Amino acid sequence: MTDSVSTVPVPEAVGKLYDRLTLTALDDGTFNPNIHIGFWDTPDSEATLEEAVDRLTDVLTERLAVDESSSVLDVGCGVGGPGLRVARRTGARVTGISISQEQVKTANRLAEEAGLADRAAFTHGDAMKLPFADGSFDAVMALESIIHMPDRQQVLTEAARVLRPGGRLVLTDIFERAPRKEVPHPSIQKFCRNFMVTLADADDYVGLLHRSGLRLRGLLDITEHTQQRTFQELSRPAAGGERPEALGQTNLPDLFQPSDMLGVDEFGCLLVAAVRP
Ligand SMILES: C[S@@+](CC[C@H](N)C(=O)[O-])C[C@H]1O[C@@H](n2cnc3c(N)ncnc32)[C@H](O)[C@@H]1O
Repeated sequence: MTDSVSTVPVPEAVGKLYDRLTLTALDDGTFNPNIHIGFWDTPDSEATLEEAVDRLTDVLTERLAVDESSSVLDVGCGVGGPGLRVARRTGARVTGISISQEQVKTANRLAEEAGLADRAAFTHGDAMKLPFADGSFDAVMALESIIHMPDRQQVLTEAARVLRPGGRLVLTDIFERAPRKEVPHPSIQKFCRNFMVTLADADDYVGLLHRSGLRLRGLLDITEHTQQRTFQELSRPAAGGERPEALGQTNLPDLFQPSDMLGVDEFGCLLVAAVRP
């Protein structure tokens, strides 16, 4: 695995970052149950950012192919928005795991409030060593979370271990699209530093999945449906920006703002689907 931006994220530090982001958002009224980009089916789609964000959850859910008899693991579940949507729309039982204690607390509160606590439960833990028995899930989803994990191979191996034979994995990741530069665009570097993220190498995914014992079902560049439009929407004045205190930022010139990414179309998004044979 070659990450284009080299600092390896430390799970405990990522957990603290998301603790701060969660508490700040709850405090200043910017709380959002989803923490991922949007998916627009066509360039002229008039869907709002909020609708497009739910649409990306649904794009993943379609590939999970789960129903009320299924048990789903949401790896890097955030504050529960996607997991609760899967539970509500499919009837599946959802277990979420996040490295942020504050996210887990909030996600369980949202599950209670939505009347879904009997079907959706969120727990604190590290995706690098999942606290679940072998073969205990019919499907695993990981929406924009593997980007923060120190070893993609380890995450995929753990996902494969907890899947039953025939179980499906669907995830999104970020990568640098061709033609790749020797040094990634400064805005991509800034994004990676601010959010403790590394980029995947799309070429590595076939081998990563193979070594994890998973069979590739699909590897799709969904950038045209997701990234640039998301950053355009987030750059609108009403959307606000990133808050330095939540990011633990003291070095203000290095603070990432969504508008930094406008026109940086090499910042790509991958949709990966696999099955445990
Ligand atoms: C960008 S957020 C996405 C959250 C959620 N999937 C969503 O779409 O709303 C990244 C998530 O990955 C989680 N995460 C990062 N590293 C992790 C790790 N090592 N183990 C478990 N969760 C982790 C974070 O705590 C956070 O919940």
